[in-house]
Amino acid sequence: MTTLQLIPSHCRPSLLSPGKSISRHRKFIVRCSDERLTLFSRIAPVYDSLNDLLSLGQHRVWKRMAVSWSGAKRGDSVLDICCGSGDLAFLLSEKVGLDGQVTGLDFSRNQLLVASLRQKERSTPCYKNIEWLEGDALNLPFRDDHFDAITMGYGLRNVRDKERAIEEIYRVLKPGCKASILDFNKSMEPITGVIQELMIDNVVVPIATSYGLAEEYRYLKSSIQEFLTGKELEQLALAVGFSDVKFYEIAGGLMGNLVATR
Ligand SMILES: C[S@@+](CC[C@H](N)C(=O)[O-])C[C@H]1O[C@@H](n2cnc3c(N)ncnc32)[C@H](O)[C@@H]1O
Repeated sequence: MTTLQLIPSHCRPSLLSPGKSISRHRKFIVRCSDERLTLFSRIAPVYDSLNDLLSLGQHRVWKRMAVSWSGAKRGDSVLDICCGSGDLAFLLSEKVGLDGQVTGLDFSRNQLLVASLRQKERSTPCYKNIEWLEGDALNLPFRDDHFDAITMGYGLRNVRDKERAIEEIYRVLKPGCKASILDFNKSMEPITGVIQELMIDNVVVPIATSYGLAEEYRYLKSSIQEFLTGKELEQLALAVGFSDVKFYEIAGGLMGNLVATR
């Protein structure tokens, strides 16, 4: 399916569980954090260039790993939550091929517009299998047991209610299938935390400042401090009901990826 236009979730009743009212899903915008929505909308135009610059291109490798851990395969129907400008959705699209279907969901219309533009600019045929959906990670507009694999890149740390986000992932994932959640690692090793903070203060914020986005990237440090450690993420996923969980530290412990099997 080719969907180049953005679809607000309340316009897609076919994906809702039978019996669930559409109006419940219409309310998503009220419940999401306006501040974070504004933040991500503001950084959308430069988000990709900044990612490349700040990670020296390494985020592409980590995203490939995340997609690989999701177990997505040809013909699958898969979801990328907090898709932003679509990096993980594009990688998923290559995995599932034209027989498959990818949904990229984000609450920032600006981010989705960038994703949609990138999709139009690329001639790779399989990218036609991606549709972009405006919606809230805390109130996913899909019926239960719907997806064969789910990814979330640098999204969980940013949502207001992490438990609720994991519950929603669990709900819409088919039994036996995997969710792969990539983010900064809140390390148990004090030295890793020190390195992360030094890099944010001395590299990330100065570079972001040159783009006029100092405040937006300063938020990164507190969001990591307030995030969950790998162990805590594993415990949370188990408590929500996942049967098997494994947290992988990557990039020398600076990043982490939770793989949870329903
Ligand atoms: C740091 S970006 C990551 C984008 C992309 N996944 C990547 O790895 O490049 C985080 C994204 O999460 C989205 N986001 C944050 N909270 C959300 C929520 N509650 N529901 C949907 N999207 C959300 C933001 O709009 C933003 O695009």
